[in-house]
Amino acid sequence: MSATTTPASPLFIPNADRAMEFAQYCPIYTPTEVIPILDDGVTVLVKNEATRFGLGSFKALGGIYAVAQLLSDTVEAQTGTRPALSDLHSDSVKAIAATQTYICASAGNHGMAVATGARLFGAHARIHISSEVPSSFATRLRERGAQACVSGATYEESLEIANQDALDTGAHLLADGSWLGYTYPPSQVMEGYTVMARELRDTFKDSGQWPTDVYLQAGVGGMAAAITYMIRLEWDVQPRIVIVEPSAAECLALSADAGQLVDATGPISNMGRLDCKAASLLAFDTLIRTNVEYQSISDEEADAAVAELETQGLSTTPSGAAGFAVWQRERTLKIDTAQLPLVIMSEQAID
Ligand SMILES: Cc1ncc(COP(=O)(O)O)c(C=O)c1O
Repeated sequence: MSATTTPASPLFIPNADRAMEFAQYCPIYTPTEVIPILDDGVTVLVKNEATRFGLGSFKALGGIYAVAQLLSDTVEAQTGTRPALSDLHSDSVKAIAATQTYICASAGNHGMAVATGARLFGAHARIHISSEVPSSFATRLRERGAQACVSGATYEESLEIANQDALDTGAHLLADGSWLGYTYPPSQVMEGYTVMARELRDTFKDSGQWPTDVYLQAGVGGMAAAITYMIRLEWDVQPRIVIVEPSAAECLALSADAGQLVDATGPISNMGRLDCKAASLLAFDTLIRTNVEYQSISDEEADAAVAELETQGLSTTPSGAAGFAVWQRERTLKIDTAQLPLVIMSEQAID
């Protein structure tokens, strides 16, 4: 990936109303819970994305929405009319959807979301996963009617294969990462994630208890950037924001230091969904304009965070517990009972 300096105007300007309208249109939509747990005398707020749309992670908010947006673009290009939400299941839209294929590489969850979106609207999905991705994801992808291809040994290799597949077949590449010249589909994915920040804002407006510190784990950075953007734009009380990456894949922190996109190098991390060596351009560009801190964690710290959450009745993976891991490290250094940390438990435990 080529180095990219920050452009003059922001690349990611989401339409959060549209994303929320789409989410609320889904019959099974319900905001995910914010669960307070007590950790060393401090209340920690845990947003539980394990239950999102029955798909096991927040990624469901992005991929399904992005398929709907790209399909609507195609329908509009072919018919001259953009379908209303209520038309997305009409026979005429389904006939067009049946000719469309959406392709992505995935560490698991983004692929699940794209596969679900494609199935929901009658389109096709082909998901490239590396041999590092748990095989349960391949099974779940196929159950959703997607073609699941084991492509390459790392996320980066599966990404290259997915990109080539889209070039060769003319199918839509629906990546969650972005780079110079490729930003529109991933911007739609990120727009979908803004729903989480809106839900949180509404919860805290109701309770009057705003978090003081927000810990956001990052892979390519789409989720962290989308939530950060919305927090800075809309929350009444501004928290400290900490972007959390595996020490094996600190691409956002390195890029922020360098002022341009820089790839990380490192061994394979146990935080599989966060183990992305190249940051998303949209995420980098959003975060570099914002007041955030960067911290990295070891595989052992992530494992310890999983174990601690388990004692609280919350089952997740090292990727899902990464934000909590940084909070745990900070609270062993200094306890401040005035703090009200917020972490995102971004996925369910995986078999
Ligand atoms: C469970 C989980 N948490 C966090 C992330 C990181 O999201 P992003 O790649 O948008 O930074 C992912 C990405 O796949 C994920 O699946």
